[in-house]
Amino acid sequence: MMKSHKITRGIILAGGKGTRFDPFTRYTSKHLLPINDKPIVYYPISNFIKNGINKILIISDKKNIRDYRRLLGSGKDIGVSFTYKSQNKPRGLPEALILGEKFSKNEPFALNLGDHILFGKDIDIVLKKIFNNNKLNTIFTIKHTKTREYGVLEKDYKGQYKIVEKPKKTNFRDIVVGIYTYNKDAIKIAKKLKPSKRKELEITELNNILINQKKIKIVRLNNKKNFWFDAGDADKVSKISSIIKNYEKKNKIQIANLNEIALLKKLISKKTFFKTIKNKKSSYFDYLRKKYENNKNKN
Ligand code: TTP
Repeated sequence: MMKSHKITRGIILAGGKGTRFDPFTRYTSKHLLPINDKPIVYYPISNFIKNGINKILIISDKKNIRDYRRLLGSGKDIGVSFTYKSQNKPRGLPEALILGEKFSKNEPFALNLGDHILFGKDIDIVLKKIFNNNKLNTIFTIKHTKTREYGVLEKDYKGQYKIVEKPKKTNFRDIVVGIYTYNKDAIKIAKKLKPSKRKELEITELNNILINQKKIKIVRLNNKKNFWFDAGDADKVSKISSIIKNYEKKNKIQIANLNEIALLKKLISKKTFFKTIKNKKSSYFDYLRKKYENNKNKN
């Protein structure tokens, strides 16, 4: 029997060039731009803290780390521990495994890209199950029509899987989304990768090696129950914002309100929660006050 582990550590990769967000990325990181009333990075953080990950390493470029620190601090307000590490150059996604080696303390960990949005009816059940009982490395896929823009999971006539990056033509529809779990084996492989033509270490190469070595589990997300969006450029962000707004209105919830998640998951006391939202006037905090004010003195 393979040993299983509970994952409590997660890395958010929030650096990169951000060329598709120029001029904003001249002064900050793209993941700090808003989707409605919250920064983009709140969404991937919520995927973690809703599902048992409360030690989070934020990796970004040196000049933007300060902005992340100002936004998230130590994490005390929401019962989470945030630590920070800078990536000198955007050398590719697998560098997260190398930069995060010390943080992972030889334990398996999750990696979430800072610029994609994943929410829905059963995503938390699926993530919780994987994070609570992690045996292998994991990639997650979802059916999508825009296969030319993403890594597509293909299967050959022998039944062998392979991820193909941005294929011009494919018969397959499962694309790989930006959340993964990895262990020591994956770090070892990441260290041996060579830069590709575009001078980056490629996560697709890493995942394909793990597929060949039968060291990765493929989890398919239900696209009828879950939503997945890439928040990689301004046009996408504006479309996602309106979809999320409608979803939240219809379901009378907020997707990634970190303070609310912290309260409901009992990561913080009620006292800390109410102290944090006191005298704050934005719609993010208004929502919390309206929803929980009457709960203040209940157990
Ligand atoms: P991408 O969107 O592929 O790259 P980018 O951020 O450089 O964007 P652009 O195409 O606009 O120039 O990156 C995916 C995610 O990974 C995103 O959250 C940024 C992050 N990233 C890093 O943190 N370090 C890196 O070296 C790279 C390549 C990406």
